[in-house]
Amino acid sequence: MELFETIVKRYSYRGVFLDKKIPQADLRKIVQAGIDAPTGCNAQSVSFVIVDDPSTIQAIAKETGDKQVCKTAQAMIVCVCDKTLAYGNLSFFIEDCAAATQNMLLAITALGYATVWIDGAIRGTVAAKIAEIISVPKDKEVRILLPIGVPETPGKPNVKKTFEQRAWFNRYGD
Ligand SMILES: Cc1cc2nc3c(=O)[nH]c(=O)nc-3n(C[C@H](O)[C@H](O)[C@H](O)COP(=O)(O)O)c2cc1C
Repeated sequence: MELFETIVKRYSYRGVFLDKKIPQADLRKIVQAGIDAPTGCNAQSVSFVIVDDPSTIQAIAKETGDKQVCKTAQAMIVCVCDKTLAYGNLSFFIEDCAAATQNMLLAITALGYATVWIDGAIRGTVAAKIAEIISVPKDKEVRILLPIGVPETPGKPNVKKTFEQRAWFNRYGD
């Protein structure tokens, strides 16, 4: 899929996934797109756990309250942040994680799968439980969960505000 077509076709999917396995080669491609994202000071602060073991998927889904998009996921990618400082007293792990995630969302879309960026719904205790399930060291933080699969009923991209409402040349609001 061409890049700009992929960007407009991407949408958050929260429905049921078909019982259709995802080849590990595709999962590797998706995560490689995350690895290839820019990171502050090239600190490469984010690592990725690819979950394709059905019982681990179910254990994680249970922690999310058995959301259908997690329960029926054929694989999950868990983004793990190293919170150490990147430059002076600055850390960039949140931005690093977001950049990697967006790259992966696009890769997932381009390969014909769907996903949703799950962050707010797992922040705190759920993320800590997921970390435990996949043996993340205590000094690292699970931040984003991407359940992946072939959607049973594909959705549509959300309506965005227009270019004129959100962007200008040279001066804000002109
Ligand atoms: C930082 C961030 C956190 C998000 N957290 C969640 C979440 O916890 N659960 C969820 O269902 N969607 C979550 N989303 C997805 C947004 O709800 C979604 O991107 C937004 O509604 C726009 O829809 P679209 O992705 O289809 O364009 C999150 C997105 C971002 C960027």
